[in-house]
Amino acid sequence: MGKRLPSSPFLSLALAFFFLFLAKSSDALQVGFYNKTCPDVERIVRKTVIAFYKNDATITAPLLRLHFHDCFVEGCDGSVLLNSTATNRAEKDAKPNLSLDGFYVIDTAKAELEAKCPGVVSCADILALAARDAVSLATNLVSSGRWSKDYNMYQVETGRRDGNVSSESNALNNLPSSFWGIYKLKRNFASKGLSLKDLAVLSAAHAIGNSHCKSFAKRMYNYTGKGDMDPLMEKSYANKLKKQCTATDTIRVVEMVPGSSTTFDPTYFKLVIDKKALFHSDEALLRSQVTRDYVFSHVNNNTGFFHDFGVSMVKMGRNQVLEGQMGEIRKICAVRN
Ligand code: HEM
Ligand SMILES: *[C@@H]1O[C@H](CO)[C@@H](O)[C@H](O)[C@H]1NC(C)=O
Ligand SMILES: *[C@@H]1O[C@H](CO)[C@@H](O)[C@H](O)[C@H]1NC(C)=O
Ligand SMILES: *[C@@H]1O[C@H](CO)[C@@H](O)[C@H](O)[C@H]1NC(C)=O
Ligand SMILES: *[C@@H]1O[C@H](CO)[C@@H](O)[C@H](O)[C@H]1NC(C)=O
Ligand SMILES: *[C@@H]1O[C@H](CO)[C@@H](O)[C@H](O)[C@H]1NC(C)=O
Ligand SMILES: *[C@@H]1O[C@H](CO)[C@@H](O)[C@H](O)[C@H]1NC(C)=O
Repeated sequence: MGKRLPSSPFLSLALAFFFLFLAKSSDALQVGFYNKTCPDVERIVRKTVIAFYKNDATITAPLLRLHFHDCFVEGCDGSVLLNSTATNRAEKDAKPNLSLDGFYVIDTAKAELEAKCPGVVSCADILALAARDAVSLATNLVSSGRWSKDYNMYQVETGRRDGNVSSESNALNNLPSSFWGIYKLKRNFASKGLSLKDLAVLSAAHAIGNSHCKSFAKRMYNYTGKGDMDPLMEKSYANKLKKQCTATDTIRVVEMVPGSSTTFDPTYFKLVIDKKALFHSDEALLRSQVTRDYVFSHVNNNTGFFHDFGVSMVKMGRNQVLEGQMGEIRKICAVRN
């Protein structure tokens, strides 16, 4: 007689947990989620970002910002990419969208991915990968001294699914304002699972890109409605900015970091210290011990800052993600299936 299979309740329970664990771990967000189902995904997204970057190095900032907006509204679920419909105004069309850009890069990568592995890679994951590739390209020379197409600032977890809700009002309620102080910023970041340290680290995304005058002009012209200036803005710098922006300008843009808006490095912290950052929210970092200490201690610590940026981006990328069978894998990023 062969041995009977043991029928101990403990063993069944252990087996059940084991399978539960397997199911859980293969569904969850992880580095290399598409290793088997779409092994070329990272190469394809990278290649696409590089192709656009070679044509226009300013593409890095919009790509980084898209992932941030995606993650802060409805979680990282690609909802920022959805178009408005006849009955719904999407996140894209909310006011803080000002100059959201880079959609065509995501669409190009998506088209190639749909051809290679149809229905497999989410738009939310393409955003996360493109943001990493963008910031890696902008950091490349700073970090290594020579340009390498394979330089990765950090590893991206994948396995997100796409959501189907995108609303203007959710965007307005969840995105931080550039006029906020440290208290509101702290509360907003905490609601996304991010700490004060993450706030200091991630704010340095403003080392690259541009801003419309509209997002900060009040600081030079009429900060509290008494024709005054933001005390957290250095006077001669304010005067310089006044030459670039009238009080009511809605069109012009200004570089976040004058003269180096395509290079990602911690010199943004130097601007904050000198009260020459564009937003009140940037200068608010001086107003809590944790953020202030971070700013002062990392202004010359490139390697440490790059490491921390990766850690905080991965954390941001985990906010309210859809996993497993939740949501869908969109075929076209701008519309639900
Ligand atoms: C801390 C709260 C934040 C506030 C209040 C804020 C606000 C803004 C504003 C108002 C603009 C300019 C929009 C315009 O007028 O054109 C901007 C641009 C930008 N933001 Fe933020 N942001 C914040 C955090 C972040 C984070 C966490 C990231 C990414 C990790 C990010 C990445 C960017 C980038 C790259 C740009 C430049 C975009 C371009 O040049 O097209 N921001 N942000
Ligand atoms: C995918 O492959 C990479 C590189 O070999 C590895 O680091 C990662 O852990 C793998 N992930 C999965 C889920 O297999
Ligand atoms: C989404 O909207 C953009 C801008 O309005 C438009 O160019 C694009 O064709 C739309 N995409 C789809 C799939 O409808
Ligand atoms: C951003 O939102 C405004 C409405 O506040 C809208 O007029 C504009 O077209 C939107 N921009 C983009 C690029 O969607
Ligand atoms: C400043 O703002 C106040 C309050 O909004 C407004 O009444 C006043 O006209 C503004 N002054 C200037 C110079 O724009
Ligand atoms: C640089 O930053 C890293 C990460 O925050 C930190 O661990 C390290 O101690 C810093 N190095 C110096 C010399 O301050
Ligand atoms: C969103 O997607 C889920 C899962 O695919 C579906 O059950 C749900 O009905 C969808 N919601 C809307 C508003 O379409």
